[in-house]
Amino acid sequence: MEKKLQDQVAIVTGASSGIGAGVAKSLAAAGATVVINHPVAATKSAAEAVLAEITAEGGKGMTAQCDVSKEADVQKMFADVISAYGTVDILVNNAGLQKDSPFENMTLDQWNFVLGVNLTGQFLCAREAIREFLRRGVDPKRSMAAGKIIHMSSVHEVIPWAGHANYAASKGGVMLLMKSLAQEFAWKKIRINSICPGAIQTPINRQAWDTPEALKSLLTLIPYQRIGEPEDIGKAAVWLASDDSDYVNGTSLFVDGGMTLYPGFTTNG
Ligand code: BGC
Repeated sequence: MEKKLQDQVAIVTGASSGIGAGVAKSLAAAGATVVINHPVAATKSAAEAVLAEITAEGGKGMTAQCDVSKEADVQKMFADVISAYGTVDILVNNAGLQKDSPFENMTLDQWNFVLGVNLTGQFLCAREAIREFLRRGVDPKRSMAAGKIIHMSSVHEVIPWAGHANYAASKGGVMLLMKSLAQEFAWKKIRINSICPGAIQTPINRQAWDTPEALKSLLTLIPYQRIGEPEDIGKAAVWLASDDSDYVNGTSLFVDGGMTLYPGFTTNG
């Protein structure tokens, strides 16, 4: 089988669980050497388990602990990866979390934590990746582009979300961060896009699917009538990272089973 990302180096942030783990496995299956980033010492064993699954399938990679909201941590992770593998071809800016609260009770810590990881983390990692892509330029043996960044956004870059103002604000920010970077660096042959997942079955949204009643209610928001799997996002990530999408710049790719189609209007309005 042709491997679309053969020998390209990909950093996936927040890859010890959920969508990030799924994306890391899909990129590895497509031939990439994958760096499985995880945030703290407590997530190391989960990251190692993802790496073990990858190597069992014949893939390659390493784990890297780094809190993406911390500048020095991010710079050290990129330096370590470049010293191990020579360069970076793909960044999947995936690390993200929720700290939900009714707005009137939301603490500044809840606000700062979510914005710090979901938006500042994407800024810091994108900046290091772009520095490396600019240094190396296009190497036609690797890819038609000098580098690719995939921001993990959400349907909530366009769907307002009561009780989750910090999260929705972070994803709205990711949208224009992504588009501004895509505009700034397309000239340099750097391709930058987002994936906007809908409801994907992972720990972040467990309460939305772990009882039959919750799942039934969730499905009223999903025209395609199934919850997403990390692999749905992994396949989109492989496409956006590969030369198959070489003419795709600054796009938000919604992978959401139709969640953004205003399903409430199907029989109403
Ligand atoms: C959130 C999930 C939610 C989904 C659809 C995602 O960005 O992290 O908790 O289920 O959007 O609302």
